[in-house]
Amino acid sequence: MRQMQPPSFSSRLDELERAVRQRTDRVPRIGIVLGSGLGGLADDLTDVTAIPFSDLPGWPPATAPGHSGQLLFGDLEGVPAVCLKGRLHLYEGNSERLVVEPALLMGRLGARVLVLSNAAGGVNPSYPAGTLMLIRDHLNLTGRSPLMGPNDDAMGDRFPDLVNTYSPRLRDLMRRAADDVNVSLEQGVYAGLTGPTYETPAEVRMLATLGADAVGMSTVLEAIVAHWAGIEVVGVSLVTNPGAGITGDPLSHEEVLEAAAEAGPRFTALVRRFVALVGSS
Ligand code: HPA
Repeated sequence: MRQMQPPSFSSRLDELERAVRQRTDRVPRIGIVLGSGLGGLADDLTDVTAIPFSDLPGWPPATAPGHSGQLLFGDLEGVPAVCLKGRLHLYEGNSERLVVEPALLMGRLGARVLVLSNAAGGVNPSYPAGTLMLIRDHLNLTGRSPLMGPNDDAMGDRFPDLVNTYSPRLRDLMRRAADDVNVSLEQGVYAGLTGPTYETPAEVRMLATLGADAVGMSTVLEAIVAHWAGIEVVGVSLVTNPGAGITGDPLSHEEVLEAAAEAGPRFTALVRRFVALVGSS
């Protein structure tokens, strides 16, 4: 038997947009999803309006340590932006449709550009902890798609193309930003799994064989829906640890947060410069 269908994205976005508009009339040009430990960028926003997830219908308070659960409107480099601090993950038990609502909401509120950031394990042995990696493409290994179910034809195609999910134009701008602020930026393929376990060493070897350079527990579903809905996407991973088995040491969330804290200033400088470039493009 077919399952009962959840509400369409359009009707959920109508409801979420109404809740946001009761609190602010700001229209962001760019949306930024802050990965684990990378929330420091939000401190650089000026003239901030913060909306806690609990004010938004159907959004749970985020639970992962390092995630605080707010939608933050503010200016960055003079560009109106909205930041998601505390993203929603599958491993928290959220549905794939809920996980992608923040990305779609940012688009509905006005953002035409979406920056997705994340903390990731390094699969490519030449990407040690501390590496910033521009996402060139991804492997969706979550086994889920947020687009299953009736298609919202007003928002996007039934069978969306994913060839340029990570916008070539924005990737160029991000590389330019990296040059401008003198931050080294590798590039590669991000493999998205559900978590919450880190991988086994055998899985990391498998991911390397599949062509992944980094592995994490987010990003891929958000990138899919944003691209589907016509929002331009760019992604940056911070490699916080060598993937499981590469050194033999056990992995821990503390190690991830420590590496993110160390790289925070470089990440912030990179994204700020990128936003400035988008603002003048
Ligand atoms: N695997 C998956 N997700 C991660 C990792 C990892 O090694 N590091 C940070 N997020």
